[in-house]
Amino acid sequence: MLKILSGIKPSGTLHIGNYLGMIRPMVESQERGQLFCFVANMHSLTTLFDGPQMAKNSLDAMIDLMALGIDPKRSVFWLQSDVPEVAELTWYLCNVTPVGLLERCHAYKDAQARGIPANHGLFSYPVLMAADILLYQSNLVPVGRDQKQHVEVTRDIAVKFNAAYGEAFTLPEPEIAAEIATIPGTDGQKMSKSYGNTVEIFGEEKPTRKKIMGIVTDPTPVEEPKDPDKSIIYGIYRLFADDGKAADMAQRFRAGGYGYGEAKKELFEMLWAYFAPFREKRRDLAANLDYVNEMRKLGADKARKIAAATMSRVRELVGVI
Ligand code: ADP
Ligand code: TRP
Repeated sequence: MLKILSGIKPSGTLHIGNYLGMIRPMVESQERGQLFCFVANMHSLTTLFDGPQMAKNSLDAMIDLMALGIDPKRSVFWLQSDVPEVAELTWYLCNVTPVGLLERCHAYKDAQARGIPANHGLFSYPVLMAADILLYQSNLVPVGRDQKQHVEVTRDIAVKFNAAYGEAFTLPEPEIAAEIATIPGTDGQKMSKSYGNTVEIFGEEKPTRKKIMGIVTDPTPVEEPKDPDKSIIYGIYRLFADDGKAADMAQRFRAGGYGYGEAKKELFEMLWAYFAPFREKRRDLAANLDYVNEMRKLGADKARKIAAATMSRVRELVGVI
């Protein structure tokens, strides 16, 4: 069976760009193979230095993902640090990874370019990511364009390890989501935490409404016709609404007499209704932490069993007995 693996960093809150670009495809991939999905808390440690906040974000992310449709019974769903073998494997992989390969990786290069002092963790970030992928012998890694390089580095590292010691790892393939998956933010740039233009999935009603009402528009008067394809409102609406409703909004834009304020209200109502069942599921989970912890343990046990098989082969190959 196809092994599909993906990790998401616990960053505090998820936005609708994360949802359409990554989470929904991940939830759907539970239908086409065995999904391995984890909360990448160890990757977040490269940039967050606040223990209580880290612990809170990690648990929140697990609850968010379960609420949005990751099924811990059907898939393998775990917290990265619950499988400490990944850190051990990182070390073995470090020793077949050329420094030059990591110097070319974008997270480190960006930090250099912006004059931010990089720590060793940030520099080695791609090696930890390679360990995530190789430990579970993954075939497919669905990622955004920004992570493609890291999957290619993973392949390079796997090839080097296999050549140095003998076959230990499956070579993974990156799978890049379709272009439709770039969700615009409230200012029209790519929606991203770093641009402050996000709409949260689990935000409170009032601030969420305020964000939608704050979407940037041009000064075309209400009565004039408008091009839906130039509007951020329609750009987000059409990604969630069914075809009929999207066509209906587009038609009203073109006809004139339809103001941006009205369109924003409709967008808010639609999004609020879309996420209503997920909000309810999230509330239930947050009120039932025993169940969440039980699922966390189930996931860790399943993941560690697979990790153990890879590690006994790897230890034997490197001569750690
Ligand atoms: P951010 O840019 O807000 O920091 P991350 O880089 O943490 O988001 O992204 C986590 C995942 O969500 C990645 O797989 C990324 O491809 C996806 N993602 C983030 N923003 C968008 C967006 N605007 N459209 C589509 N996918 C997105
Ligand atoms: N680096 C990824 C990101 O920033 C998260 C991640 C960590 C990941 N390990 C992974 C993604 C393994 C896919 C596979 O989004």
